[in-house]
Amino acid sequence: MSRSAPVDHGRNIMKILVIGGTGLIGKPLVGPLEALGHEVVAASPSTGVNTVTGEGLEAAMRGTDVVIDIPNSPSFADDDVLRFFENSTENIVREAEAAGVKHHIVLSIAGVDRTQNIGYMRAKLAQERIARESTVPYTIVRATQFFEFIGALAEGSADGDRVRLSSVLMQPIAASDVSAALVEVATSDATNTTWELGGPEKIRLADAARRLFQARGDAREVVTDDSMGYFGGEVTDESIITGVDPALQVRLGTTTFDSWLATSN
Ligand SMILES: NC(=O)c1ccc[n+]([C@@H]2O[C@H](COP(=O)([O-])OP(=O)(O)OC[C@H]3O[C@@H](n4cnc5c(N)ncnc54)[C@H](OP(=O)(O)O)[C@@H]3O)[C@@H](O)[C@H]2O)c1
Repeated sequence: MSRSAPVDHGRNIMKILVIGGTGLIGKPLVGPLEALGHEVVAASPSTGVNTVTGEGLEAAMRGTDVVIDIPNSPSFADDDVLRFFENSTENIVREAEAAGVKHHIVLSIAGVDRTQNIGYMRAKLAQERIARESTVPYTIVRATQFFEFIGALAEGSADGDRVRLSSVLMQPIAASDVSAALVEVATSDATNTTWELGGPEKIRLADAARRLFQARGDAREVVTDDSMGYFGGEVTDESIITGVDPALQVRLGTTTFDSWLATSN
């Protein structure tokens, strides 16, 4: 577990537990939160905290003010991912209730309630439900797909020198914009609301993969095939973008896909 000494800048110093704190979104949260003077604990199996088995969780939760709940399942198989998010979130809220945590932040997915034909989305909605039903004050942020995830989607359907992807409309966002938004959420009070976080532009999945391949010098052909759906499930152009449900507030990241392509590798 990585721990930092709290620095008192006259602000309210909190202990913030980042579950999944070694991951894509979690790792970049630690430095900025520590720079604000908070005590930050990056919790994950590799630091001795397993939220599925409960190992190390009670000790890590002791004295915690804010939990940022952003682990991911090692397996995306329907049953595995559902079991992962149910067990993980149930264990987190139980220990958070016992420790008197003041804010439980869940990173969910835009359109999760419109894509319940997809196993991963069923697991994420189960995670949201467990957070809402707990007595711990919460904020649920439903982010769109990360730019970093587009390559993984393409690899999932790669076949020799071809990749088949649907043309579903997405609104992807840079992981760094998601991490920056979570720093703000973690240093604000719980709202007991759900809101959406999306990228600044809408892009079709197959086009995004083409632009990614071009930027990376990857010569494989991206074939548009709408029968591929998304994660194997049928989707429409309203499934995974923000702003479809007027009841949810939307915030947008600022990093464009082109600027991300130019600076990432
Ligand atoms: N990908 C997207 O486009 C997208 C969009 C919206 C929301 N999200 C959500 O964003 C969250 C973070 O995703 P990510 O891409 O940052 O994940 P990631 O890079 O795959 O990292 C996964 C993290 O989960 C930890 N972890 C795995 N099993 C665990 C367990 N049993 N107990 C505690 N921690 C465990 C890992 O720890 P170790 O390093 O120790 O293995 C790692 O820190 C996920 O909840 C995902 O659903 C993703």
